[in-house]
Amino acid sequence: MHLPKMKIGDVCFRFDQLDSTMNFCARLAELNYPEGVAVLAEEQTAGRGTKGRTWHSARGKGLYVSFLLRPEPAHLNHIPLLAGLASREAIKHLTDLEIRLKWPNDLVFEGKKLGGILCEASSAGEKAAVILGIGLNVNHAPEDFPEEIAGLATSLAIISGRTQDKEILFDFLGKSLQLWYNTLIEGQVTEIIKSYKEYLSFSLGQRLLVEATAGKRIEGFFVDIDQKGGLILKVGQETRAFYSSEIIKIFS
Ligand code: BTN
Repeated sequence: MHLPKMKIGDVCFRFDQLDSTMNFCARLAELNYPEGVAVLAEEQTAGRGTKGRTWHSARGKGLYVSFLLRPEPAHLNHIPLLAGLASREAIKHLTDLEIRLKWPNDLVFEGKKLGGILCEASSAGEKAAVILGIGLNVNHAPEDFPEEIAGLATSLAIISGRTQDKEILFDFLGKSLQLWYNTLIEGQVTEIIKSYKEYLSFSLGQRLLVEATAGKRIEGFFVDIDQKGGLILKVGQETRAFYSSEIIKIFS
């Protein structure tokens, strides 16, 4: 068992503007920084989302942060799940809102996207690292979102009707991430998966459409999240596990 020496988020690099907090954090990994260090930016000019997408990062509106972690390789798939749990808790502390988790990377409220998680592995430096990026829509007004996602995205300010404090959110997020990360390195994967399943944005037996690999869409019924963090669906007569996939549609 190894416990992190530095608490997550206790040391942070803050920028007015960066291309992406992922890039700066990856440089820290190359320089052998210890795990736990955080990189924050008020604005990103080349924010990245999953599947090669852009993460539009309106200046001063969102929490844009990357954390350097050095988990065991077997735990790589668990990082987005525990980041989802920690983000959910931080939002609950700050606003009392109950958000849901759309496997594996999305934070949603009533079907609209409130934030996203991006994990990138880095083999540079002496010990393999994961850069965990979290983007939360905090004080966005509807017009702060680009037109193509305006109908699909929301923010804490839009939902709660008031401006929210990003600093308090960041503080809660670091603390909550630390607790879930400790749970992971103590080997309690079952507990992480159990909690993650409690907050999913869909239920047992619900029909889902997933993009299994680029361009390959499969429909199935939700069965479980397995111990490796995979989505288990009943597809026809088969039970199939999906790992690097994305949910395209949740049928009501
Ligand atoms: C997604 O596509 O849902 C994941 C979005 C992740 C965005 C965050 S913002 C902080 C960090 N820096 C980036 O460039 N991306 C992540």
